[in-house]
Amino acid sequence: MFLGLDAGPAVRIVVPQPKDAQSLPIGGERSPAAHPTMSSMNRRHFLKAAAVTGTGLTILRSGTLFGQNTPNKKLNVALIGVWGRGLAHYEGLAKENVVALCDVNELRFPEALAKFPGAKTYIDWRKCLDHKGLDAVVCCTPDHHHAHIAIWAMNRGLHVYMEKPIALSVEEARLVRAEYLKKKDKIATQAGTQRHANPNFARVRELIKDGAVGDLQGVFVWGNRKLPRPGYLAAEGKPPSTLHYDQWIGPSPYHPYNPGYFSGSAGANCLQWNMFWDFGTGQVGDMGAHTMDLAWNAIDAGVPTSIEAKGDAFNPDVTPVELTAHFNHPANDWRPAIRVSWYQGGALPTSPKPWIDLNKIGHGAMFKGAKGVLVADFNTRTLIPAADSSDLTYYKPRKPAEVTPPIGNFQDEFFRACKGNLKTSCNFDYNGLMTEQMALGLAAYRSGKKLDYDGKTGTVTNAAEANAFLKRPYRAGWPING
Ligand SMILES: NC(=O)c1ccc[n+]([C@@H]2O[C@H](COP(=O)([O-])OP(=O)(O)OC[C@H]3O[C@@H](n4cnc5c(N)ncnc54)[C@H](O)[C@@H]3O)[C@@H](O)[C@H]2O)c1
Repeated sequence: MFLGLDAGPAVRIVVPQPKDAQSLPIGGERSPAAHPTMSSMNRRHFLKAAAVTGTGLTILRSGTLFGQNTPNKKLNVALIGVWGRGLAHYEGLAKENVVALCDVNELRFPEALAKFPGAKTYIDWRKCLDHKGLDAVVCCTPDHHHAHIAIWAMNRGLHVYMEKPIALSVEEARLVRAEYLKKKDKIATQAGTQRHANPNFARVRELIKDGAVGDLQGVFVWGNRKLPRPGYLAAEGKPPSTLHYDQWIGPSPYHPYNPGYFSGSAGANCLQWNMFWDFGTGQVGDMGAHTMDLAWNAIDAGVPTSIEAKGDAFNPDVTPVELTAHFNHPANDWRPAIRVSWYQGGALPTSPKPWIDLNKIGHGAMFKGAKGVLVADFNTRTLIPAADSSDLTYYKPRKPAEVTPPIGNFQDEFFRACKGNLKTSCNFDYNGLMTEQMALGLAAYRSGKKLDYDGKTGTVTNAAEANAFLKRPYRAGWPING
């Protein structure tokens, strides 16, 4: 008997992916939006033939029928962090089987269960990840759990959609990326930088790659959000019995309860905790994850070789509001060596023209080249050729057929990838390198020195003491590789 693709509990099968299914060289060329290409009819035939002949099928530990090339099969998904940003995933998740819901706040379950009736609820994500038959995890918890949950989930062979930032420290970004690279032929990953699907991201990349600014000389990225805080919130009251506060603290060093950490609106509560070192990386991992992505998508960069940064006076509790970080990246096969700079909280690059007020672009990127400048926000772009290049004859725009196809819905891209060719636009390789770069900016800020960095070993080579800033402390009982 052939085990139908939509059959219930039976045998779990995986069709091996071609070796090059998800290979992304460091700093190399990336394929445009990756969509499954095999038609569902072909997949059905392929799976049926494979099932009959026994070719290439692996029986996995869970008891459900599962094939990566089964676009019609619903995935068994766990949503970890069900409120706030979690709500933005409900629509996409409703097309799959949400079998597990995890949150530290029990008051968030009724709304989630109304949307996903029958799902099992968990307080502790470590237990949730062992839910039987799970295929994928969507994680919307606070940032200080992200690298842990990503690695624990990948260790269990699960596909992972992780809200941004995927890690807080350089060490975490490297561990998450390394774990993904080990498993990339079996799992799909997506970092939650959904603006990446805005067509403008692809247009900016095309302009830069096609030479609209000539040889690239420098990249400048900025964000104007400011969340000044004096320090961790003082102890105030006791957590309600429905809030599992110790589980909220999780791997981070303990800080006493204060309701202020939980006082924000849905999807913006992260602004109540992400500026504190033990819970976030401030604007580096907040808007920086989105805005640097606009540039990162266009420059095919790996890890920087040196980093320098300056900003507010160091506060051991709170990440800097104002920060400027410069990252030197070696040349690659299509552009020279460049310096990528990040500005936040009031710091800004110099405007290319006195009549352009970069302040008016809250979150933007600017690419300076030998022939002109491109200024972009998340949805629009402006090309300013240099005076002697203003005829634009040096640049050949793409024909309509050569334009990068749209990504479509970013969350859907992840679920399609889980069931298809595993390709997503922001996997943990691409985003892991970007997150490592951004975390290096904070390490350089803390050390107060220009750091030379060996990306192979993940170490600072000219200031041994700065290596302490590449990692963060964990509480006992919360290993990152569990
Ligand atoms: N991609 C985007 O545009 C975007 C927008 C907003 C937030 N985010 C990201 O989403 C994440 C969540 O942000 P938020 O504002 O929703 O935060 P939040 O504080 O509201 O937390 C979200 C949910 O996670 C739950 N939670 C907290 N700790 C948990 C734990 N240890 N285990 C399970 N559940 C836990 C909370 O109770 C809440 O229901 C952050 O990483 C943030 O950076 C992304």
